[in-house]
Amino acid sequence: MDRNLALESVRATEAAAIAAARTVGLGDEKLSDQAAVSAMRTSFNRIAMKGKVVIGEGERDQAPMLYIGESLGTGEGPEVEIAIDPLEGTTICAHGMSNSISVAALSGPGGLLNAPDVYMKKIAVGPEASGVVDLRESTSWNLRRIAEKKKCRFNELTVVMLNRPRHEALMAEVRELGCRIRLIQDGDVSAGIAVCEPDSGIDVLLGTGGAPEGVITAAALKCMGGEIQGQLTFRDEAEKERARALGIKDFDRVYGMTDLARGEVMFSATGVTTGTFLRGVNFYSGGCRTYSIVMRSKSGTIRHLVSDHRFDRKDGILGFPA
Ligand code: FBP
Repeated sequence: MDRNLALESVRATEAAAIAAARTVGLGDEKLSDQAAVSAMRTSFNRIAMKGKVVIGEGERDQAPMLYIGESLGTGEGPEVEIAIDPLEGTTICAHGMSNSISVAALSGPGGLLNAPDVYMKKIAVGPEASGVVDLRESTSWNLRRIAEKKKCRFNELTVVMLNRPRHEALMAEVRELGCRIRLIQDGDVSAGIAVCEPDSGIDVLLGTGGAPEGVITAAALKCMGGEIQGQLTFRDEAEKERARALGIKDFDRVYGMTDLARGEVMFSATGVTTGTFLRGVNFYSGGCRTYSIVMRSKSGTIRHLVSDHRFDRKDGILGFPA
């Protein structure tokens, strides 16, 4: 894949983040999501590529834009598969809370798992603990292995997980060992990436969140040298049917890094509201500043971009006429 694609894709996450940022705190999740989706789609459609959405806003009949299978790009150039979450943390954004981001991951054909929109049990660790965890084993087993590898005590390890009733037993097991817990309301992509950032103070992501978010996290961790494993979980037969439709036959399979994100991948993200991972969009008179990250697995280069956008020189994509 052309390395410039990574920088092209950050334009799409920037556009989506700016559009969503205009809706922060309005309390309208649908509005926030639509703003991000529409801006991201317009932006991706300007890139010279034969793009296909593999993780998107949903099935074609549920999502008018950025649905799974939708073609993106000008139709000229390399074949690219795209996993997007134009607004990761819709509720967070709509209620003006921290940590919402816009994300996109790109790969060559077959590079990203076509995950159905169901839940996924996950474990994610940074480079220091890569290769020592196993989702088939118990939580205690995994935390022991991480503590040993990082040469630290349990009460020096921090586990991040979504604050959900389904995590009660998991939380109890983590507390029993004496590990610290950071609970998040939403946004397990940022939390998954945080395991690779030494300054985040987070050692491991545990628990169940969205499967599409799991694939997107895998793309990021592949660039950063971390590891995520995931197992799909199904609440009913209809969810299994959705998985079957995407060619998934083994419902108990534990997906490793190469199953989730294979070959060369690129990842970009832009902050919508300020969080531990990225700062949010900052509007000022006549423009705004965005904070993004762009990474490629091939080179391992991680770019932190601070961009100033001038609304008088941009066209309608940022929500203003030319
Ligand atoms: P959305 O931005 O799509 O609302 O997702 C937010 C999120 O918190 C994800 O980060 C996470 O994987 C998923 O929702 C968890 O789902 P649920 O809210 O159903 O527990």
